[in-house]
Amino acid sequence: MQDSPTPSRHHNDALSNRQLRALGEIASGVAHEFNNLLAPMMLQTLSIEQTWGKDRELVEELQPLKQAIQQATELCQRILLLGRRSADTRERVYLNDLVSNTLKLIGSTVDRRIQIQSVFDETLPRLYTSSALVSEMIINLFFNARDTLLDGLQQRSPDSDWTPRIRVETSGFWVQGETSQFYQRITISDNGMGMTEAVRQQIFQPFFTTKKTGKGTGLGLAVVWSCIHALDGKIEVESEPGKGSTFILEIPAEARAAKKVKKVVPDAAMLPASGNHRSRILLVDDNDLVVRSFSRYLTRSGHHVTTISDGQDALHLLQREHENFDFILTDLNMPGLSGSDLIDAVRLLPFRGRIIVMSGFVTPEQKESLLLKGAAVVLSKPITPDRLLKELSVDPIFWQQTNLSMNAHHAHSHDHDQEPHELPIPA
Ligand SMILES: Nc1ncnc2c1ncn2[C@@H]1O[C@H](COP(=O)(O)OP(=O)(O)OP(=O)(O)O)[C@@H](O)[C@H]1O
Ligand SMILES: [Mg+2]
Repeated sequence: MQDSPTPSRHHNDALSNRQLRALGEIASGVAHEFNNLLAPMMLQTLSIEQTWGKDRELVEELQPLKQAIQQATELCQRILLLGRRSADTRERVYLNDLVSNTLKLIGSTVDRRIQIQSVFDETLPRLYTSSALVSEMIINLFFNARDTLLDGLQQRSPDSDWTPRIRVETSGFWVQGETSQFYQRITISDNGMGMTEAVRQQIFQPFFTTKKTGKGTGLGLAVVWSCIHALDGKIEVESEPGKGSTFILEIPAEARAAKKVKKVVPDAAMLPASGNHRSRILLVDDNDLVVRSFSRYLTRSGHHVTTISDGQDALHLLQREHENFDFILTDLNMPGLSGSDLIDAVRLLPFRGRIIVMSGFVTPEQKESLLLKGAAVVLSKPITPDRLLKELSVDPIFWQQTNLSMNAHHAHSHDHDQEPHELPIPA
């Protein structure tokens, strides 16, 4: 059979888990700093667009800039995933649904000449895993398969009888050990260019790519590696130059539980909007760029903004005149009094507004602790203007009352491993 590569099975051992984690952490740190710069860049661009909206030429000139910022944002997000600094909650899902939904999402972006086959084991039960991480892995493996097939299309003569093909399969199997464990497998194979052994050895290393500059960042498989380890699974690769490659993901039926962020507070979508209420916002951030662009943007959107660059000063101000603010919009990482300390201190005041935390990244554990302390919402940077305005459109007083009853509800529930409770929608 021309299409199936002769298997040469490998467990990837090129880079130890620890080394990879260290690299991931470094990369995440850089991405985090970058992320902090992207939010003001986007807001500033939108502000210019708002002000000079009538100048068609200028607005058009701004589009590539907006696109570039968007791309940089996506790149940052991938790097943050590498260090697994984004929430990865677990849920009960059918692997087949997850795979077919992901394929639907990306399938239409693929060149028509590429045949996509899927073979699902319809008997698979549900998995307890992270849909986000599983989709992320499928997308990366699928795009790699697509890329090698596009290379193939370019390199082979048009009259060869080769049909570029991606085959996606699901199956399940038991592993007998001290305790037997059921695994589900996703196999993604292509009949593309394959890899030499030397390339195969390096594919999981961050920034390793054989693609032309601008075509690949070399992060796809590093992210896959990071995701599969987060789920306690395994990845195997079979490849032969000129014949194609097969990537096999083995996902345990029950992933080690990532701490779930319990939704103890309702989000903006569930609360009544305050109408055209002009909110009084205290913006606390030590980054001058963030402060300037956010306050300009919010002021233009009709809000009243007071800015302060130091947590301690913010607290003093609030101690004197907390009733003058509807919202506190605070960064987490600040020298002196951190955002988290500020929340602790504000909770001792009779402040009746909403606290919105803006942060570059938070682990699910940190997020949970911030919400339990009394933050209304934790937004990750870069924060889209839409999202921010939506959060600021909530009537803070109404939220306060709802939040109090929510926390009372939470105090009585101890079953941490169940699905998050559906919250009653306020009438
Ligand atoms: N299906 C495949 N067939 C052939 N080579 C592959 C395949 N998947 C990965 N590779 C090789 O592994 C390298 C690393 O892949 P990875 O997904 O990490 O980065 P990339 O695809 O080059 O860039 P990015 O995914 O960040 O856009 C690729 O450049 C390619 O050489
Ligand atoms: Mg890739």
